[in-house]
Order: sequence, then C-alpha cells, then structure tokens
Amino acid sequence: MASSTPEPATATLLERAQTFLSENKRAVLLGTAAALAVGGVAYYAATSSRPRGAGDVEKGARKEKKEKKSGKGGKKKKTVKDVDGPILEERERPKAKVEEEDALLGTPLTAEQIAAMSEEERTRLAASFKEKGNAAYKDRRFAQAAVFYTRAIEVTPKPEPVFYSNRAACYVNMQPPQLDLVVEDCDAALKLDSNYVKALNRRAIALEGLDRLDEALRDFTAATILDKFANQGTAQAVERVLQKLATKKAQEILANREPRLPSFTFISAYFAAFRPRPHPALPAEPSTGDQTLHLALQALDSADYAHAVTLVNEAIEQGISWDEGRAEAFNLRGTFKFLTGDVPGAKADLQASLEVLPTFTQSLVKLASVHMEQGDAQAAFKCFDDAIKVDEKDPDIYYHRGQVLFIMNEFTQAAENYTKSTELDDSFVFTHIQLAVAQYKSGNLASSMATFRRTLKAFPQRSEPHNYYGELLLDQQRYEDAVEKFERAVELEKLKSPPNVLPLVNKGLALYQWKQDIGAAERCCAEALRIDPECEAAVATLAQLSLQQSKIEQAVEYFGRQSALARSEPELVNALTYQYASMSQVEFLKNYPQMAAQLSALARGI
Ligand SMILES: *[C@@H]1O[C@H](CO)[C@@H](O)[C@H](O)[C@H]1NC(C)=O
Repeated sequence: MASSTPEPATATLLERAQTFLSENKRAVLLGTAAALAVGGVAYYAATSSRPRGAGDVEKGARKEKKEKKSGKGGKKKKTVKDVDGPILEERERPKAKVEEEDALLGTPLTAEQIAAMSEEERTRLAASFKEKGNAAYKDRRFAQAAVFYTRAIEVTPKPEPVFYSNRAACYVNMQPPQLDLVVEDCDAALKLDSNYVKALNRRAIALEGLDRLDEALRDFTAATILDKFANQGTAQAVERVLQKLATKKAQEILANREPRLPSFTFISAYFAAFRPRPHPALPAEPSTGDQTLHLALQALDSADYAHAVTLVNEAIEQGISWDEGRAEAFNLRGTFKFLTGDVPGAKADLQASLEVLPTFTQSLVKLASVHMEQGDAQAAFKCFDDAIKVDEKDPDIYYHRGQVLFIMNEFTQAAENYTKSTELDDSFVFTHIQLAVAQYKSGNLASSMATFRRTLKAFPQRSEPHNYYGELLLDQQRYEDAVEKFERAVELEKLKSPPNVLPLVNKGLALYQWKQDIGAAERCCAEALRIDPECEAAVATLAQLSLQQSKIEQAVEYFGRQSALARSEPELVNALTYQYASMSQVEFLKNYPQMAAQLSALARGI
C-alpha cells in the first residue's frame, strides 16, 4: 500500500530506497557468497569476464551477448521442462562393445546372474545399458530409457551418479512428469557427487514444480555458484524462485498477523495532506456513539492514532445519530483501513460515507486513491471530477489528482495540478515539494531547482524541502551539497518530537555513495535507530551495508528485522527476498565449505 498511497514524503523516499535495493539486488542474488570472500568484486568478475563453458562460446561476442537480456526461459511458466533438453551427459565412460550383452538387454537380471559375473563384465554391461538408455531417450521413449538406466543401476559394481541423473531426466519428460522420482534420483546422484551441477538443476526444477520452494532455492543457488555464474538460465531461476518464495511467505505472514498502521511519520504526513476542517457540530442531545466519535476526532487532532482507531470503531458500533457525524466516522474508519492495507474495507467505508453525504469531497478524494490502489484509474478520475463539481476551489482535490498523475508518470499534468492547488492555497509544503519533484522527473531541472529554492525560503522551519532537495542533489551526484541539505534537515527534525529520522538515513546513504564511507553510513543509521527503533529504511540500509562488507550472517539478521518491521506486502516481499537470498548462500557455504577459496579466486578473475 505504501508503494502507491499518494503521500509524497514517504513515497519518494521509499521509491528511492527501493531503487537502491533493486540496483543492488542482482549483486546480492549472484554475488553474496562470493562477496563473503572478497566484497562485491566477485559478482563483477563473474558476469563480465568469465569464459563460457565449451559448446556455447561464439568467439569475440561473449560480453555483448551476456549483456543482452534474452527472453528465453523467463517467460515460460508452469511447464516442467528439463533445462538441458533431451541431451544426456556421458561421464568419462569409454564406449563399450555391446554385441555380446545384447541378448540380455531388456530383461532384468537376477541376483544370481549378477553375482556370477566379474566386476569388469558388470561394468561393461552397465555401460551398455546406459547406451541403450541414451538411445531410447534420444528417440523420446522415456519410459523405456528409464528401464535401461534401472538395469544399469542394478548391475553396476560401483554406483554412478550419471545413471541416476539420466533416469531423472526421463522422469522429468514423462507425461505426466514424475517429479518425486526425479528428486529421489537426483538425491542419489548428488550423494555420489555433490558438485554435479546438472543433477542440482534437475532436482531444483522438480522441487519448484512440487512447490518445495525453499529446497528449490537451495539447489538453484548451489548450481549458480558451482557454475561460476556462467549459466543465465539458472541465475534467472534463482530470481524467479526467490520471488515466488518471498511472495508466498509474505502472504502467510500477513494472513496470520494483526494489521498494522504505518509509521507515525507516514500517518501524520498522510493526514496533513488534507486541509483541516472544523469537526461537525454535535447534535443537541448526543448519543454515546456521538460522544465517542467526538473523542476519536480529538485523539486524531493530538496525533494519537492508535487511540483514534479504537474510538472510531467503537463509535460506529455504538451508533451515530446524525448524518454529518456518520459520514465523518465512515471516512475516518475507511482512512485507517486504507492505511493498514485493507483496501476493500476502506472502499466500503468511503462509499458508506458518500451514501450518507454525497457532497463530502474528502471522501471522494480518498475513494479516488482507493480506486487507484485497485488499478482503476478511470474510476479515480471520475471521483476527482465529481469532487470538483461539488467544490472547484478545494485545493486538496488538485493535490491528490497530482499525486495520482505522478504515480502514473504523467509528470507534466501532475505539475499543472500541483500548481493549481498552490494557487488556491500555498500553505501545504508537500505540494511545493511534489511540484519540484514532478518538474525534475519531467526533465526540467532548472524549474525544479527554482521551485526548491523558493520552497526553502517560504518554509524555513520545515525539514522536508531540505531533505528532498538533498535527494535531488544526490541524484545529480552533487554529494557535498546533498550532505549539507540532509544535515540541515536533521537539525530541524531534532526540534520535533518525535523527529523524522529519514534525513539521517539519507545522509548516511549520501556519505556512502560519495566516499564509500561505510563506517559513517552505519553510524548515521545506528543513530536513526536509536531515535526510532522502528525505522525500516535504517534497518534496510544497514542490511545492505553488511552485504557490501561480506558480513552475510549480520545481513541475514538485519533482513529478518526488516521483514518484521515491514508493513505492506510489497515491503515485506522485498525484505524477504533479500533474507532468503542471503540465507540460501549462507547455507551454500555450509554445504560446500571447500568453495570459499574457489569463490575468492573467481572474484579475482581467475
Ligand atoms: C490536471 O489533470 C487533469 C487530468 O486528470 C488535466 O485534465 C488537467 O488539465 C490538469 N490541470 C489542471 C489545472 O487541472
């Protein structure tokens, strides 16, 4: 919800925090394990200069080819398909002369028959069964091929991983695929050879098909790293499974958790985006519900949101005796539902509010945001039009229409609507900031800077213009100026209670980008958390900084904390994605401790 609730302050910060995260995401997904050894270099080395495996190298065109995103693999969904296609591997086995064993092929051997053979005979016979299996497989006679591999497994004196892996390939291709058997055979193959990438990939695909996502992620991660990041298909599979796993877990968590209000800063900024209105006058003989509503509105005025929620719920239950009060109560309850992410509930309440009082422009404006959240832009704009018909001079309408246009990337029209809003009332600082940001986004740097400078002058005691101007400067890589703006914002926030610590986190990020000063960045975030232990941006930044320093266990811990703090589903999915990515790589090094050294060699570009 936070992602598209048209609230400027948090929206732009979150947006940028997300970019920071997603820019680093590929590095995390592909490079964390390597980073354990030598920082972020491994990822770069792995993706930019590694020779490809034999068979798919076109001379001279390696790098270019790797840069391009090929659509293959990514789009296909649901089909369980072996990545290797119908090609089986031959593992260092000489071609055996098979004529003399031909008579035996296809008939199971008894234990006595096997016991009567020499070791050499058994080895040769197993090899010829495998040959038969491969031939049948190439003819797409998968059931038959599987039988041949079974014979090979029965007769061989020394278990061979390739027999199991090839039989698994048959099970993958049967109709319907026998995924449980694929997993079983790959288990056997990997027990014999834990570095067997093909078996890892095969098992991962089967596990994904069986919706055993944790295990699929474990295997894809191992395959990616063992393959030295050379196989794009596997790397994409890691991302795909991570996304599925994080989404699934997020939904489980949210279904079992009390809905939570966003941070204090977020809520107060949201409420501030509507001009204050006088409370509706109580009727001469107010009911209990009427009085409770009155208390709810007072709690809201003193920014005691938790209390306001409880009271307004109670008031509606007790029953409110007059229309204006009822419309107000449904509006408020719907707003809180919207803030906790209960979009359908919010919609019902706002519609109830409008049924009682169709001219309530604030409910119309909020309903527009709800429509937007549900992806119905047309309905959203209809609400704005209706609101304008009621009161064409209400600045809130244009501000919020600007917000909707902003998230639709219609920056020019958004800027027009913000301007209209400030013409009607220029006292709301975020309208000016959003105007500046919209101008910046539409490529108009000069106007944007001018708007920021005007806003700084008009609101000398507000931290927000400094903070967002700082973000613009940071985006322009004017680091020193950016840090100065963030510092000024921090100073101004110190005078407030509770202070908004986001400028502090921003300062940390700026110092990191400017001087790669991780220590300073960490100190800023730690200070932010001391003031506001629930600041998700600070925790998220600390998690990323831990990764940069190869402190992966510490990163896992911070990502866990970030997941616990996350309120909306997108935030939660994002945090969980990192949490699982890091965890799977910790697990990899536990299972393949010998790889640590090799990873660091990989990082050095060897
Ligand atoms: C605001 O946005 C709407 C699009 O919804 C556009 O038609 C209008 O021209 C914009 N400007 C003003 C001043 O309303």
